[in-house]
Amino acid sequence: MEIVIVPDAVAGGSLIATAIADLLIAKPDALLGVATGSTPTPIYQALAARVADGSVDASRARICQLDEYVGLPAGHPESYRSVVLREVVEPLGLTEASFLGPDGNAPDIAAAAAEYDRALAEAGGVDLQLLGIGTDGHIGFNEPCSSLASRTRIKTLTRQTREDNARFFDSLDEVPHHVLTQGIGTILEARHLVLLATGEAKAEAVALAVEGPLSAMVPASALQLHPHATVVVDEAAASGLKLADYFRDTYAAKPVWQGL
Ligand code: GLP
Repeated sequence: MEIVIVPDAVAGGSLIATAIADLLIAKPDALLGVATGSTPTPIYQALAARVADGSVDASRARICQLDEYVGLPAGHPESYRSVVLREVVEPLGLTEASFLGPDGNAPDIAAAAAEYDRALAEAGGVDLQLLGIGTDGHIGFNEPCSSLASRTRIKTLTRQTREDNARFFDSLDEVPHHVLTQGIGTILEARHLVLLATGEAKAEAVALAVEGPLSAMVPASALQLHPHATVVVDEAAASGLKLADYFRDTYAAKPVWQGL
């Protein structure tokens, strides 16, 4: 796992946008898995700016969702489908035709989950999966004690995650209890995992995920199993890392041609 410590969220967004731009040069129709939440916004802004100024061609890119609330009415502005269309797909100049996501309103949620795993495989698999991290160490919506081999399925949110996400809703009561999320096993099938974490509130989860033991209690620690996982953190989110100086030295000495 590579840990890159950046000065701030904007620098992290720019670095990851460059990795996506490089991927799109190598594979113009790459399938890009995107995360929601506040953290990845600088990535999407940096990428959209480069598409707008013509330095990145994302016209053949395909976008897929990591997770979704169960039961929010279709078109609800905080459904992750709406968020991804608004914050990623449209700013990149793409349409829903380039987008894949699970149906959080399906009458048969288990079937919708299995269907989404199938759709990802049929699309050739995810080339680069962006991830954030929950304060409890979750990735996607895989809460603590999620199976490290899990597939896309329904999960129940912890109170902590519902409280963290309540800022997007009018009240805590409106935050759904249930979600569909790519499983940890599903996430690990992406060719490159890139997790961005910023801010002091993520420091403990980042330290446990990167330097702690592999454990279902800290779902993000599953990145330790992936042959190509990159964790980009700002100084605040890096503040709990024992090996921070080593990670800084390693990145400073890295040949530029290697990219992320
Ligand atoms: C939600 C999403 C995650 C995201 C997490 C952190 O739970 N399902 O994919 O990583 O929030 O969000 P934020 O980046 O806003 O802290």
